[in-house]
Amino acid sequence: MSANREPGSELRLAVVGAGARSAIARHALGSGAARIVAVVDPGSNARLRAAEAFECDSAFESHGELIAASASGLDVDAAFVTSPDDTHAEIAVALLHAGIAVYLEKPLAIEVADADAILAAAAESGTRLYVGHNMRHMAVVRTMRDIILRGEIGQVKAIWCRHFVGNGGDYYFKDWHADRSRANGLLLQKGAHDIDVIHWLAGGTSELVTGLGGLTLYGGIEDRRDNSDRTMPEWFSLDSWPPLSQTELNPVIDVEDLSMITMRLDNGVLASYQQCHYTPDYWRNYTVIGTAGRLENFGDGDGAVVRVWNRRTLYAEHGDAEYPVRGDEGGHDDADRLTVAEFLAFVRDGIATTTSAVAARNAVATAVAATESIRAGGAPHPVRPVDPSIAARL
Ligand SMILES: NC(=O)c1ccc[n+]([C@@H]2O[C@H](COP(=O)([O-])OP(=O)(O)OC[C@H]3O[C@@H](n4cnc5c(N)ncnc54)[C@H](O)[C@@H]3O)[C@@H](O)[C@H]2O)c1
Repeated sequence: MSANREPGSELRLAVVGAGARSAIARHALGSGAARIVAVVDPGSNARLRAAEAFECDSAFESHGELIAASASGLDVDAAFVTSPDDTHAEIAVALLHAGIAVYLEKPLAIEVADADAILAAAAESGTRLYVGHNMRHMAVVRTMRDIILRGEIGQVKAIWCRHFVGNGGDYYFKDWHADRSRANGLLLQKGAHDIDVIHWLAGGTSELVTGLGGLTLYGGIEDRRDNSDRTMPEWFSLDSWPPLSQTELNPVIDVEDLSMITMRLDNGVLASYQQCHYTPDYWRNYTVIGTAGRLENFGDGDGAVVRVWNRRTLYAEHGDAEYPVRGDEGGHDDADRLTVAEFLAFVRDGIATTTSAVAARNAVATAVAATESIRAGGAPHPVRPVDPSIAARL
C-alpha cells in the first residue's frame, strides 16, 4: 500500500522494539524525509529512552496499542520492527493487516511457518514489507557482486564463507540470542545475513543442506546473569578476552557457538558457511570460485580489498586485480543508511528494492534446515521451498 503522502511531505514512522538495533531508525531522520511519531516497547526504560531520543509524544507497551491508536487517528505510514526475532512474525503480520508498512529486521522469523505467514500477510494485505538485509548494501558485498556480474571469474560454481564472530560472547551469549526458544540458533540469527548473500552472489537458492556444530565453549562458563535490565552496548568490552574469561552470560545457553554447513543450490552451485563465536577477530571472508577465476575479500569494511585471480599461477598473494572497498566506515553504518533510504523510497513510491522478502524467507528456510541437520548429527536436510503463488505476488 502506498503511503499516499504528497511528494516532499514527511513519512510518519513508528519504532517497535526500542533496544540496541532501534538506532537504525535515526537514518530516517533529517532532510525532512520522515519523522518518528511513536515507539513501542514492553520495557518502560527502553520505551521512555527511545521516546526521548526520537522526540516523539506517543509511546506504547505493545504493537496492539499502536494499531489501535492508528485506527483511532494516529497517523502512521510505516514501522521499523527491531524487536527480538521470536516476536517478528506476530508483530509483522498484525501491522501488515493493519495497513502499516513494515521494515522488518532479519531474520524474518525463527521458524519457516512463521516466515511464510509474514509473506502471506504481505501478499494478502497488499501492504509493503521490506526486510533489513543490510548486507546487500555493504560495499564489500557490492564489490564482489559487481566482479561476478562483469564476468571476471566466469560462471560461479562454489562459494565458501568463513565468519569470524569475534564479538560473539558479548553480542550473542549474554541475552535472548543464546536461547533456542527465542532465536532458534545462531546459524539463523547471525548466518541469515551470509546465507542471503551467498544466494545473491550465486544467483540461486539452497535446496539441500548438511551441518555439523555444537556448543563448544560458552556452555562451560558458569558465571551467569539475567541481563534484561540493560542492553548490549553496556556490557560490550574488547578487554573480555580470552573467551573463557567471559562472565555474566545468559542463564539459558543452548545455541551452537560453532557451526559448519554445506549447501547445494538449485542452480548447481555448492557453498559452505562456517561461523565461530570466539575468534579474536571479527569479520567475514568470502571466496567465490567460477569457471574462469576466483575472488576473495580481505577485510569487510572501509579499507578492505577484494582480489581476483583469473590467470593460471602458483601462489600469488595479490592476484591479478585488486579492488578497494570504500564506504563501510564504522561497521555497517553506511549500509544501514542506504538500506533505510531504500526502505523509505519503497514505502513512498514502491520502488524495486535490492533486498527481497522472498529471499529473506529462503535464508530462514536454509538456516532452519541446516540447524536441524546439525542437531540431527549432520544428516542431509532438504530446504522447504517457498509457495510460488505467494512469491509471485510479492
Ligand atoms: N541487520 C543487522 O545488521 C542487525 C543488527 C543488530 C540487530 N538486528 C536485529 O534487530 C532485532 C533486535 O535486536 P537487538 O539487538 O536490538 O535486541 P535488543 O534485545 O537490544 O532489543 C530488543 C528490544 O525489543 C523489545 N521487545 C521485546 N519484545 C517486544 C515486543 N513484543 N514488542 C515490542 N518490543 C519488544 C525489548 O524490550 C528490547 O528493548 C533482532 O531481530 C536482530 O536480529 C539486525
